[in-house]
Amino acid sequence: MTGPAAVLELFRSRFGGTADGVWFAPGRANLMGEHTDYNEGFVLPFALGQGIVAAAARRSDRRLVLCSAQEPGSLVEVALDALAPGQVTGWAAYPAGVAWALACAGYQVPGACVAIDSDVPAGAGLSSSAALECATALVLADPAADRRELAAIARRAENDFVGVPSGIMDQSASLLGRRGHALLLDCRSLEASQVPFDPAASGARLLLINTRASHELTAGEYGRRRAECEQAARLLGVPSLRYLTDVGDLRRLTDPVLRRRARHVVTDNQRALEVAGLLTSGSGDPYPAIGRLLTQAHRSLRDDFEISWVEADATVDAALAAGALGARMIGGGFGGSVLALVRQDAAEPVRAAVAGAFARRSWTAPEFLEAAPSDSARRLGLLMSRREGGSSAGT
Ligand code: GLA
Repeated sequence: MTGPAAVLELFRSRFGGTADGVWFAPGRANLMGEHTDYNEGFVLPFALGQGIVAAAARRSDRRLVLCSAQEPGSLVEVALDALAPGQVTGWAAYPAGVAWALACAGYQVPGACVAIDSDVPAGAGLSSSAALECATALVLADPAADRRELAAIARRAENDFVGVPSGIMDQSASLLGRRGHALLLDCRSLEASQVPFDPAASGARLLLINTRASHELTAGEYGRRRAECEQAARLLGVPSLRYLTDVGDLRRLTDPVLRRRARHVVTDNQRALEVAGLLTSGSGDPYPAIGRLLTQAHRSLRDDFEISWVEADATVDAALAAGALGARMIGGGFGGSVLALVRQDAAEPVRAAVAGAFARRSWTAPEFLEAAPSDSARRLGLLMSRREGGSSAGT
């Protein structure tokens, strides 16, 4: 987790005075279920230890003033009563959008100064923007606010204020994740359950590999996939692709592209449930089977959904050749990160193989990140955070 002391110092230097508190919201990785959330399907993400920290203090006027360690020199000030979609652009649109969406949902949103710092690489497919939204939601909302409602509000900010047509997975992982667990979320009923997920206990390990090919969800392909899924559902006469559980039903789609898109969604829903089942069954070592499902999912994302990218394919190939149990791209696609599942003793050979594959092609070296299933967004104790204690000081 990025240091609370650094964000308090940023607050002091940009705003003067002392913050009322420090809040943290994690990024996420996704074990299974990609592009299934907006199809009302199943996802199985987990909160990361890395995320956004925000030091904030209330203001008595109706203004939101924002600065970020990642945007040195930029200070964005917005009038809460004049907020409207499209009016704030760039990174500040995410926190401003949350203020707007909270007000739309009937919250009394206070003026505030907010200083932000992050240790989630942006564009790495690890939901730094959802973490920013969720940290802002905790800063501005009533502490007793329902987390599922906050997730829906943060998603609304992203969809309607920022203009990215994403689903509910990232905000749910950030606000509902739990240490040592993945979150099985039914995106139709929004029923969420915690699935025990502790690879180390079985001698396995997750490697999160930022391929450094950065993605941009607003670039159109994400929305195009979403539209294709909706069209496939319409042609099949169902409210969403979630209603299909048998790939045989997809024969009625005559367009081969739509059929492949739908096949990915139907099979990834099945894989998400299968992985959750393996993790909860408690019988034997679930990781070899989970590894195989990860690799199947990668092929489905690459060949049927067509959202993988060359660095991700090379990472998966190199990891598997070096003995990984399985690997796949995660997130929206076209850039970002790969999640590989390895036996503890294969971690170093897999890292070396991936680094070597990048070096041979003269690509920027990949970044290897920790991927520990971690706790959800929370307020950090101020005394504790001043001492850099932060990680378990939730209130
Ligand atoms: C992005 C979106 C999510 C989800 C994933 C793909 O992260 O924000 O809602 O659709 O892509 O699974």
